[in-house]
Amino acid sequence: MGTLCRWKGKFGKTNGYIVVSANGGLNQQRVAICNAVALTSLLNATLVIPRFLYSNVWKDPSQFGDIYQEDYFINTLKDDVHIVKELPSYLKSVDLEEIGSQITDEDIAKEAKPTDYISTVLPLLLQNGVVHFLGFGNRLGFDPIPFNLQKLRCKCNFHALKFVHKIQQVGSLLVKRVRKYDAAKSMLDKQLLGNFIDYAPSKEDKVFVGPTKYLALHLRFEVDMVAYSLCDFGGGEDEKKELQAYREVHFPLLIERLKKSKAISSTELRISGRCPLTPEEAGLVLAGLGFKHRTYIYLAGSQIYGGNSRMRTFTDLYPNLVTKETLLTPSELEPFQNFSSQLAALDFIACASADVFAMTDSGSQLSSLVSGFRTYYGGGNAPTLRPNKKRLAAILSENKTIGWNTFEDRVRKMIEEGQRVQTRGFGRSIYRQPRCPECMCKRSQ
Ligand SMILES: *[C@@H]1O[C@H](CO)[C@@H](O)[C@H](O)[C@H]1NC(C)=O
Ligand SMILES: *[C@@H]1O[C@H](CO)[C@@H](O)[C@H](O)[C@H]1NC(C)=O
Ligand SMILES: *[C@@H]1O[C@H](CO)[C@@H](O)[C@H](O)[C@H]1NC(C)=O
Repeated sequence: MGTLCRWKGKFGKTNGYIVVSANGGLNQQRVAICNAVALTSLLNATLVIPRFLYSNVWKDPSQFGDIYQEDYFINTLKDDVHIVKELPSYLKSVDLEEIGSQITDEDIAKEAKPTDYISTVLPLLLQNGVVHFLGFGNRLGFDPIPFNLQKLRCKCNFHALKFVHKIQQVGSLLVKRVRKYDAAKSMLDKQLLGNFIDYAPSKEDKVFVGPTKYLALHLRFEVDMVAYSLCDFGGGEDEKKELQAYREVHFPLLIERLKKSKAISSTELRISGRCPLTPEEAGLVLAGLGFKHRTYIYLAGSQIYGGNSRMRTFTDLYPNLVTKETLLTPSELEPFQNFSSQLAALDFIACASADVFAMTDSGSQLSSLVSGFRTYYGGGNAPTLRPNKKRLAAILSENKTIGWNTFEDRVRKMIEEGQRVQTRGFGRSIYRQPRCPECMCKRSQ
């Protein structure tokens, strides 16, 4: 053993292996993967296909190869970074923590700079031939970073990560059923669904009946979000107790933090736009934007907090509401049932392929990555609606005194401003806003 058998190739010799165990759900992992690809290039290292940590929140044992096409990933990036499926055998049995090669999120600042990695991680890599990033959420900032590394992360996110056939296949069923149409409509479909959708309508296709348009809504009103927000949703004491109990089980760190800081009232939280949109509010916004009662709406996400009764106002406004659970048969859905990340991948597909995508929470990774995907592949025809929650809170708080027409006007203005084409601001995510020279060089508009 002793000497490291360093891999030689067109990248020169490798400085060692990078192992990543990414935490979070599907979309946070996606960001971690592409950040790891950039780091691998920066450090002239070799990347081992990232592993996904099992979390008690997401409860999904899926690994990279259950979600993404491994060989496609390796091949797409083969001229940029060297990626292997496993550590070489001489390193497999090494306890990476014991040799000091484990790097947790406490060792690296959030949004760290490339130079931080050169100064802290490279020596370790050279010394031990391997480092293990444990967690690795948002550990590489967006600016400043060399052009080529930024470009590489962009390539990773938009080109190298393709869902496995199992997901593409069922994803295409979802899209075809909600559209009532079998053929691909745009580049987005092709990127997401591979060969599981036709590129031209078949001959016997109903020429007169085009696809049904649909809006996809990511209503991030799930219990974790609702509990974490500390907002009041009008459910009285029962709601308060239930959410507090949830926080005690799932967010012990938040509870600790609250004990030490002074309480912010739920009214203040609401006014400052820090509360997730309720189903009622989301419905009002869509109605204010002029979406008709018959609009087909695909609802992404899992259990809405409060269930059907909480959704009633929304479904009264928009009865043509579909979800993956209603579009797929139980047997089609079954292989995904215990895998929240794979279910999230189906939502990713349905949201990215929608005619309109409406997010309700600008902080969520799903919304953020989906909107970036739509910008990148949508050819300018894939709008994303992003409410400004602070302004929306102000508009809604005046709901008694303003008339419907004024409400409509103000909601429209708010959304239009959110939609205006923006170039990416300093430090902002390229996954979310790929309209930058490193990503959309040939497509810039
Ligand atoms: C990586 O390789 C390039 C090209 O050979 C070299 O310029 C650079 O200094 C290397 N970086 C590290 C961290 O080894
Ligand atoms: C999913 O998990 C539940 C409970 O853990 C189990 O009973 C069920 O058989 C699993 N279903 C599938 C399709 O694996
Ligand atoms: C209107 O505003 C009041 C007070 O701000 C609020 O309690 C109520 O839920 C709002 N109604 C709707 C439909 O948003």
